Amino acid sequence: MKNLLVTGGCGFIGSNFIRFLLPRADFTGRIVNLDNLTYAGNAENLTDMAQEYPDRYVFERGDVCDPLVLADIFSRHDIDAVCHFAAESHVDRSITGPDAFIQTNIVGTFQLLEQARRLDDRLIRFHHVSTDEVYGSLGAAGHFTEQTPYRPNSPYSASKASSDHLVRAYAKTYGLPVTLSNCSNNYGPFQFPEKLIPLMVLNALEQKPLPVYGDGKNVRDWLYVVDHCRAIWEILVKGREGETYNIGGDCEMENIDVVKSICDIVDKLRPEDGQPSRRDLITFVVDRPGHDRRYAIDSSKIRDELGWTPAENFASGMAKTVGWYLDHGDWIDRVRSGEYRRWIETQYGSPG
Ligand code: NAD
Ligand code: TYD
Repeated sequence: MKNLLVTGGCGFIGSNFIRFLLPRADFTGRIVNLDNLTYAGNAENLTDMAQEYPDRYVFERGDVCDPLVLADIFSRHDIDAVCHFAAESHVDRSITGPDAFIQTNIVGTFQLLEQARRLDDRLIRFHHVSTDEVYGSLGAAGHFTEQTPYRPNSPYSASKASSDHLVRAYAKTYGLPVTLSNCSNNYGPFQFPEKLIPLMVLNALEQKPLPVYGDGKNVRDWLYVVDHCRAIWEILVKGREGETYNIGGDCEMENIDVVKSICDIVDKLRPEDGQPSRRDLITFVVDRPGHDRRYAIDSSKIRDELGWTPAENFASGMAKTVGWYLDHGDWIDRVRSGEYRRWIETQYGSPG
């Protein structure tokens, strides 16, 4: 793998993946990060990496939906492997505005596959990063396996399911050397504060209401983002072509318990005299339409075949995550004030 194209590398998981991969001794190639810098793409997340690895890391601003941009990137950088993160990723936004999800997640994946197909034998691997949400919602028992039928319930999960099908079809029809991964909910540094965990951490710090949807008993399986990145790397290097791997933290929790634990950590790290526990900020709000009740992942395939296992449990991962947000007030301020957008415009110009 000499020239790895990472799409969506300025987002939450993509930027963690690039930070994880560049220093590794078992990766000596170059990374080309293609990202069109939507609201979720923060190029500042990687400015230190760009300085530290000027010969091995390059950022290209561009849209995965644009075949001309892709053709140029593939040929100029002699791409021989792809790790595809770029997506619209927030379920709530997919409910209020599904168009961008269809465009980026489905059409973008299709255009990338078309470009990859033109490489013929020069393509070593196309890895598609996907979600457990494609499987739909579980009842009180059971786990998603790689054989669970797809039953997506939100425009987001339906668009990801569609992209998964395209990737698998390109393997069967054109012999593309693909792998796929379907992962549970991630948390950790650099997550945009619209998702449950960073939103609750920041609101708790600022003594703002903590909006919990419905009865708060929806269950998610939580995984620390660096563990996800390591799983993707294991799959890229050792995963069997054409295979799907489920990735999860074996860490099922009701949303209300996640929020309570955030309150307790913030109370401990940032006690405020005279203030009651942050738990008092919890506010039950109207439920998300079509809200999936429970996700749970059976990740025995990746554990048994590739020897992957998460290094963090919920307590250690959350301690790192909350600590990171407490130590990065500047990052939070720039994201919340929109200053990171203005910086992007001075560096790369307005979006085309
Ligand atoms: P994110 O929203 O934080 O980042 C997405 C990135 O993609 C941003 O940098 C954005 O600018 C870029 N992007 C969006 N549209 C683009 C386009 N048309 N062209 C080029 N770049 C574009 O998302 P994330 O949470 O880092 O998720 C990354 C991937 O992992 C997604 O495919 C998502 O479906 C998947 N995933 C996420 C989770 C999770 O818990 N966050 C769990 C499982 C799988
Ligand atoms: P989210 O972080 O949006 O991830 P996803 O919808 O992909 O699982 O939400 C995680 C869970 O938290 C989900 O069940 C919805 C719930 N939630 C809230 O209760 N309040 C909130 O403000 C948000 C953003 C999410």
